[in-house]
Amino acid sequence: MNKLIITFVALMGTVAGVALAADAKAGGEVFNKSCKGCHGPEGATPNEAVSKMLGAPIPVLAAADFQASKTDADIKKAITDGKGKMPKVASVTGSSIDDVVAYVRSIKK
Ligand code: HEC
Repeated sequence: MNKLIITFVALMGTVAGVALAADAKAGGEVFNKSCKGCHGPEGATPNEAVSKMLGAPIPVLAAADFQASKTDADIKKAITDGKGKMPKVASVTGSSIDDVVAYVRSIKK
């Protein structure tokens, strides 16, 4: 009986682990909807026109030096609070935030 309970608990942990892990693929869809317009496809080619309009350079998210200079918390904060000339992205909430962070990490060049 104890064995059964231990197996059950272990199984629940696996299921919860999968559900909680950030999903870069889902994050990519969110990125294309909510970030690409400014940061460009795969965060590689920032939109010049938007950059001019905002009066600020838009960072190349895929760049290795950019990635090295930012923590996951920095990326999250840019989404939830905005950063400088970047307005917060209120449409991205909950686990989608972690998914987008995972996606941004996955596009590193
Ligand atoms: C309206 C255009 C716009 C959109 C939409 C946008 N960004 Fe940005 N982003 C910017 C600009 C401009 C900056 C530079 C801000 C500054 O330093 O003044 C920036 C900066 C950042 C930074 C650097 C933050 C830091 O700590 O320096 C990250 C990370 C980032 N954006 C991620 C994202 C993600 C992820 C999304 C989508 C959820 C997104 N951005 C959507 C324009 C945008």
